[in-house]
This record gives sequence, C-alpha cells and structure tokens, in this order.
Amino acid sequence: MNTKIIVITGGTTGIGFACAEYLVSLNYQVIITSRTKENLEEATSRLGNNSFGMLSDTSSLSDIDDLVMKIKKQFGKIDGLFVNAGVFKASSFEETSEELFEETMNINFKGAFFAVQKFVPILKNPSSIVLNTSIVVFKAFTNTSVYTASKAALESLSKVLNIELKDKGIRVNIVSPGVTESPIQKKSGMTDEAINNLVEHFSSTSPIGRILVPKDIAPIVEFLLSDKSLVLRNEKIIVDGGTTL
Ligand SMILES: NC(=O)c1ccc[n+]([C@@H]2O[C@H](COP(=O)([O-])OP(=O)(O)OC[C@H]3O[C@@H](n4cnc5c(N)ncnc54)[C@H](OP(=O)(O)O)[C@@H]3O)[C@@H](O)[C@H]2O)c1
Repeated sequence: MNTKIIVITGGTTGIGFACAEYLVSLNYQVIITSRTKENLEEATSRLGNNSFGMLSDTSSLSDIDDLVMKIKKQFGKIDGLFVNAGVFKASSFEETSEELFEETMNINFKGAFFAVQKFVPILKNPSSIVLNTSIVVFKAFTNTSVYTASKAALESLSKVLNIELKDKGIRVNIVSPGVTESPIQKKSGMTDEAINNLVEHFSSTSPIGRILVPKDIAPIVEFLLSDKSLVLRNEKIIVDGGTTL
C-alpha cells in the first residue's frame, strides 16, 4: 500500500491534474494547489478520495507560507513536491511588457524558487522534488522569450539544490515536456484555429503521430517522485515524443 504524500502546485488542470489523477490511482495522497476556489473544488471532486485542494497563489510568498503551515498541521511531513504551477502568454521579445515579464517570472520562477525553499522543512528524509520546465530551454520557439528565461532559470537551480539539500535527503530532478495539449494554449491567447493547426502539425510531424497530452507526462513524474528513481540527481527527462530529435 502506497502511503506517500505528494504536493502538486497548480494541480487543477492540464499536466498537474493528470499527474494528480495518476498518483491517486496508485494510492498516493495528493495535495493540489490553485489560485481559484472553483477550479480546486472541481478538480478534487473529480479526483475523489486521497485528494486534497488548497488555495494558494504561488506568486505570493505569504500564500506559500500559509500553505506549508496548513499542510504541516494536517499531514505532518511530505514525501514529494511537484513544482508545476506555471503560465505562458505568447509575446514577441520586442513587445514583451514589464507586466508580462513580472507575471511570468513571479509565477514560473520566483514562486517555484520560494515554494521549494519553504517546503524544505516539511520534506521527509528521503524525499523528491520534481521541477516542471519545458523543451523551450534547449530549443528556440518564437514569442516565448520571457517564458523560456523563467524555465531556464528554474533548471539552473536544480544542480545547486542537489548539493545544498543533500544532507536533508532531498533530491531534485526535472521533467521537460514538449508541446502538450492543455488549457495553457487557450490561456496563452491562441485562437481555436491556431490550436487546431498546432494539433494537426504534431499529428503529421511527431514521431508518435500525435500531439502530447497531459496523461503522457504523468508516469514520468511519478517515476521521479517515487523510490524507483532514488539515485537520480539533477536528471532531466525530456518527454516530447521525439519532436526535438
Ligand atoms: N502544455 C505545454 O505544452 C507545456 C509544455 C512544457 C511545460 N509546461 C509546463 O507545465 C506546467 C503546467 O502547464 P499546463 O500545460 O498543464 O497548463 P494549465 O492547464 O494552464 O495548468 C496550469 C496550472 O497552474 C496553475 N497556476 C497558474 N498560476 C498559478 C498561481 N499563480 N498559483 C497557483 N497555481 C497557479 C493553474 O491553476 P489555476 O488556474 O486553477 O490557478 C493550473 O492548475 C506549467 O509550468 C507549464 O509551463 C507545459
């Protein structure tokens, strides 16, 4: 019987939700977070037993403090953290505003940085942290400059964390998904037509014959969170169906 407790930041939709669903199916206890009460209620009602929703905006340090305090009180220590909450808004480099820069960096990098820092005291020895980055870190896509920078910053942390947190038994690894069909496309400002074209593009060009879906990422994240990957440190698993080959 699996009794591990895992926290997923941003677990209401897309990759975070699919990971929560997969972990719950394997009897993990899963705590998901979100900025939106309704999204959390809907997600936890779909996930059912062994899922718990907690309201927390990852870009707010006081929200992360409250989240850690509540989890400590209700669950004690946790076995793993999937740092997943993130946003993407398409914008050319020349048109990227300070507002978009701050929103993206505050959620994708600052929020992730401080979530890891603040969860350290309630992570068990041993425990596992998985950072959700993206293939944009090593393959250039237009209109992604600040998003790419936020994910590259996150990846750069992993090595240092593996050294600084080693005596606490905390290991850090990276999942690097390729383009995955999820609500992020609509939120990014893409039209339905553009999303259909994207799906069509991957259907005809990807070695797997289709675009990735969030369920494709879930078993990889579970592997990195579980004892199956106990000796991995700063490993990056690219889950892209071979599209960047
Ligand atoms: N889809 C892709 O092609 C792709 C590829 C590579 C990497 N990724 C990464 O995968 C992660 C998940 O993306 P997705 O595609 O699954 O998109 P998604 O469906 O839009 O999911 C984003 C999740 O993050 C949460 N979130 C956003 N801002 C938050 C904040 N300030 N505080 C707390 N939660 C927040 C959202 O929750 P609420 O809206 O309910 O607050 C939602 O649960 C992101 O980090 C993204 O960069 C995605």
